[in-house]
Amino acid sequence: MAQSVKGMRDLFGTELRWFQHIEETARRVFGRHGYGEIRTPILEELDVFKRSVGESSDIVNKEMYEFTDKGGRQVVMRPENTAGVVRAAIQHKLLNSSDPVLFYYIGQQFRYERMQTGRYRQFWQIGAESFGVATPESEAESLLMLHSFLTELGLKNLTFSINSVGTPESRPAFHAAFRAFFAAREAQFCEDCHRRIETNPLRVLDCKNEKCQAALEGHPVITDHLDEASAKHHARLKVLLTELGIPFEENPRLVRGLDYYTRTAFEVLSSDLGAQSALLGGGRYDLLVKHLGGPDVPAFGWAIGLDRLAMVLQQVRGEAPHSTPALLIPLGDRATLEALKLARNLWDAGVALQLETRGGALKKAMASANRLGIRTVLILGDGELEGGTVTVKHMATGEQESWPLGEVASRLASR
Ligand code: HAM
Repeated sequence: MAQSVKGMRDLFGTELRWFQHIEETARRVFGRHGYGEIRTPILEELDVFKRSVGESSDIVNKEMYEFTDKGGRQVVMRPENTAGVVRAAIQHKLLNSSDPVLFYYIGQQFRYERMQTGRYRQFWQIGAESFGVATPESEAESLLMLHSFLTELGLKNLTFSINSVGTPESRPAFHAAFRAFFAAREAQFCEDCHRRIETNPLRVLDCKNEKCQAALEGHPVITDHLDEASAKHHARLKVLLTELGIPFEENPRLVRGLDYYTRTAFEVLSSDLGAQSALLGGGRYDLLVKHLGGPDVPAFGWAIGLDRLAMVLQQVRGEAPHSTPALLIPLGDRATLEALKLARNLWDAGVALQLETRGGALKKAMASANRLGIRTVLILGDGELEGGTVTVKHMATGEQESWPLGEVASRLASR
């Protein structure tokens, strides 16, 4: 029997209902903030990610699904969506005015990663990107939106973890201090970190190896080496978050696994996730648009893992909010046709209804209704047709009553 490809899942039932509920909530909350949706292709040219996510990142180094297509192009199944959104915004000249541009997206991403709880090779992200504003206030706006989104989903126990990774101008001062620190204890660091200290020292802070994390004790902190403007920016963001009541903590080791960040970088952790996994991450990327060939436009954004979010919500809240349709069971030949007509009227009136079309015994139909979790069953037989009524059975209580046919739509709608 064929199985789905390792790390790629089929979605259905309770889990998919959570996905749908999350997506509806996202569209509602983001729409309220003036964000509009953007959809970009799953395949992008290899260069888009090499030049943005960065050649020193694990994503580009080890995790991309990349191949040469039949036309000889080197393409990648997107490992994230920010680079694609930036590529699209440049290509369609969406960033050429001085107006802020606000986008959100919902879509599959692909990373060839080692599987663990909440980590897949095809996974879903919901993300929001805000272009054109460099202020800490724009970050506060985006984080408030994120906070409302998570709160409306019913999530608590969240930690906003923030840092500033400075700018390319301010980073050499930090790099010098950090390289000196590293050199004094280099034997304690893993092989990967020896490579990272050459290519991108910030990546050492992010190493998952416990020995490296221990060796980092007392390391120089980036926020002590910021340029004046970045330091002011960081201080202002902290004031805004405090004033707005968004709970956060500073994490000097938070650098994120992607190379495009400048100044603010952040993650949100959920204590319900385990394994120290981040529910979401993001930050400011003021240089990326220009770097990919667009105008000089600052940007800020984040992306949340939908698979992880659904998993946490399922743990915390159980079944996703949803309604089951009623079930209409006709008994006998005459009732079968009348049931089709009645169902059509109900569907046209917007009523959610499932129709039993197998014919045959009531017992079998009722057993299915039980298994399907149907709460209201309508029975239409010869007796009901004579009287112009339908028999209604409420499955939770076993209670039975008779409704006039003309009132079925309104009574079902008001349940
Ligand atoms: P990221 O931290 O690589 O950032 O991914 C964001 C979120 O996607 C993670 O926090 C996690 O919830 C989810 N995620 C990542 N990999 C997997 C996986 N293998 N399985 C399940 N979920 C996963 C970005 O992708 C940036 N584009 C975020 C961003 C947007 N920065 C600025 N704008």
